[in-house]
Amino acid sequence: MAQSLVVKNIGELATPRGFEPPRSARAMGRVEVTKNALVLAIDGTVAWVGPEDAFRSDPELIGRAEGLPILDAGGGTVVPGFVDSHTHFIFAGFRDEEFIWRAEGLPYMEIHRRGGGIRTSMASTRAASLEELVAIGEKRLAGMLALGVTTVEGKSGYGLDRDTELRQLEAMRILSREQPVEIVSTYLGPHSTPPEYEGRPGAYMDFVIAEMLPAIKARGLARFCDVFCEKGVFEIGDSRRYLEAAKSMGFGLKLHADEIERIGGAGLAAELGATSADHLLKADGKDIEKMAKAGVVATNLPLTAFSLREPYAESRKIIDAGCALSLASDLNPGSCYSQSFPLIFSIAVLYLDLTLEEALVATTLGGAAALGLADRLGSIEAGKGADLLVLDAPSYRHLAYNVGMNLVKTVVKSGSVAVGG
Ligand code: NIG
Ligand code: FE
Repeated sequence: MAQSLVVKNIGELATPRGFEPPRSARAMGRVEVTKNALVLAIDGTVAWVGPEDAFRSDPELIGRAEGLPILDAGGGTVVPGFVDSHTHFIFAGFRDEEFIWRAEGLPYMEIHRRGGGIRTSMASTRAASLEELVAIGEKRLAGMLALGVTTVEGKSGYGLDRDTELRQLEAMRILSREQPVEIVSTYLGPHSTPPEYEGRPGAYMDFVIAEMLPAIKARGLARFCDVFCEKGVFEIGDSRRYLEAAKSMGFGLKLHADEIERIGGAGLAAELGATSADHLLKADGKDIEKMAKAGVVATNLPLTAFSLREPYAESRKIIDAGCALSLASDLNPGSCYSQSFPLIFSIAVLYLDLTLEEALVATTLGGAAALGLADRLGSIEAGKGADLLVLDAPSYRHLAYNVGMNLVKTVVKSGSVAVGG
């Protein structure tokens, strides 16, 4: 689907810069703004970006653009496509009743302990066919794309048995070919202990390590392995041996770390050189420093804290400690049934004490870094994938100011118009 395109009449272009994860407070806050800009995309990649005047006075550039389709941004704002680095978008069924229970005061982990939560979604996902999962996923991806998400990470973890976990991953592989959003797949078998292993998380972990990791590896179905490292789910010991096994097989590592209780998941992520540690609501400051030293990307999921009515993660301290930060949706049927990038921006600026520039870097280059893709995605500059959004707004500053409303008018993925036009 890689294509060539000229995007002209851009009132304001705002983008991070760099091919590396933004691992300093300076890099996390750095957004370059160009007025009256133009982007030239050739074969899916940005070939040139700069002021339209500079383009018009360069015969060589004009020659390269000749005959290419033109997208007129209408004086609007252009930013990079958003990279949603943490979602669980393949699941069947809903858990709307739990949302009401939580609103009435029942804690998330209490529902989990009573056998609801993830296990409820497990039952409906096990009952869904591959075709059904593909259809469900396709609809959700179309929703994300309309909100400006051009790359998404998706996790398994609602099967907790061999066939359903493979089916979830297979659904993502099919969707990668059939629609424009780029998908990075993650195996999350250790999301909960299934009923077949009731009260025996260690035995389930043995099965995951001995049978699931090799099966996924052999089929090339996932780039990352993830674990719900949490008190009463999978504790540090089981998480460590799983992640070590995954690492030795060449998978990248991710952790749901220190979300509900502080058990040291962030420190484990640093020790093992994980690509990212996610949630981090209760993470220890010293562990965050270790993550910064080890180059682990911190992923905060503000829509989850909002939905669970938990205090937000300390994103400000995370950036100041020198960690690259990603802000992602965590779209899932339980703790956060939302894919709202518009709301992420407003929460980041109003409640996480981030500048709008930091929020923009965290949802683009930071998201790409959390997927090991900072060298290819996350900014609009020559050599990167031509993934960009035209916003119906005079400035990128409207991203947070428009609370929860969608400003995205046109979405370009790999130089191809995917939404609007
Ligand atoms: O990231 N915390 C664990 N996993 C998901 C929630 C899964 C669910 O409730 O279905 C999360 O919040
Ligand atoms: Fe999650």
